[in-house]
Amino acid sequence: MARFSGKVAFVTGAASGIGKVTAQLFAAQGAKVVVADINEADGVNVVSDIGDEAAFVALDVTNEASWQNAFAQAETVFGGVNILVNAAGISPGDTIEDASLEHWHKIQAICLDGVFLGCKHGVPLIDRSGGGAIINISSVAGMLGVPNLSSYSAAKGGVRNLSKTVAMHCTKKGYNIRCNSIHPGSIETPILAQVHHGPVEERHVQARAKAIPMRRIGQPEEIAKPILFLASDDASYITGTELVVDGGFTAR
Ligand SMILES: NC(=O)c1ccc[n+]([C@@H]2O[C@H](COP(=O)([O-])OP(=O)(O)OC[C@H]3O[C@@H](n4cnc5c(N)ncnc54)[C@H](O)[C@@H]3O)[C@@H](O)[C@H]2O)c1
Repeated sequence: MARFSGKVAFVTGAASGIGKVTAQLFAAQGAKVVVADINEADGVNVVSDIGDEAAFVALDVTNEASWQNAFAQAETVFGGVNILVNAAGISPGDTIEDASLEHWHKIQAICLDGVFLGCKHGVPLIDRSGGGAIINISSVAGMLGVPNLSSYSAAKGGVRNLSKTVAMHCTKKGYNIRCNSIHPGSIETPILAQVHHGPVEERHVQARAKAIPMRRIGQPEEIAKPILFLASDDASYITGTELVVDGGFTAR
C-alpha cells in the first residue's frame, strides 16, 4: 500500500517551488492533495498535472476567512485533512535600517500570521479527521541573524517557536497531531529572485554555492522528501523539533 494511502494533505504555497513538488510527491505516494495558493493559474496547472487525486483551493494565508473557507472546501471535497504543510511565503530582502513598517507587516502577515492561522484552524480539523501532522516551513534564516533578510528572518524565527508551541499544545491536549518545522538553506525556486530583487544570475548562484559546505544550492525535492518523512509514520515519535536541510550551511 502507498505510504499516504487514505490520507489528505493540504499544502499551502503549492502553486510553485517547494510546495508544488511536495504536493506532487504526496499524490505520487497515495495521498489526496489540496493545492492551496493565492496564485490560481499556477495552482490549477499543478492540479491538472496531478489529476483526480488533487483539488485546487484559493487561499490567501493572511486572511482568516480565506483559511476557514479553504478548509471547509477540503472537508467537502476529500472528507477532512490529516497533513498540513505551511509552505506559502515571500522573501524580499531588507535591512533593519531600510525596512519600512509596512514592508515588515507584509512579511509578518504572509510568513508568520499565515502559519498561525493555518495551525489555529488546522489543529481542530486534523483532530476531527483522525489525527496527523503539521509541517511548517521556516528557514535557516529563522535560526540565524541575517542582515539582508531582516523582516523575513524575524518571521521565520517566529515560525520555529510557534511550531514547538503547537506541538506542545497538541501533546498537552492528547491530540494525535505532531508539529515540526523544516529549515531549508538555499533552494532553487522562484523565491530567490525576490531575495536578489531581480533575476537570479549565475554569479548569485556561484556565490551561494561557495558559502555552502556541500558546494551547491539544493533542489525542491530535497526539502519535499524530508517534509514527507515528517508527515509519515516513520516520524511517529518526532514532534516539536526542527529539521535543518541546508547542505551543512549552519553546521560550521
Ligand atoms: N527557496 C529557498 O531558498 C527557501 C529557503 C528557506 C525557506 N524557504 C521557504 O520555503 C517556502 C516555499 O518557498 P519556495 O522557495 O517554494 O518559493 P516560491 O516562491 O516558489 O513559492 C511560494 C508560494 O507561496 C505562494 N504565496 C505567496 N503569498 C501567498 C499568500 N498570501 N497566500 C497563499 N499563498 C501565497 C506563492 O504564490 C507561491 O506559489 C517559503 O515559506 C519560503 O520562505 C525557501
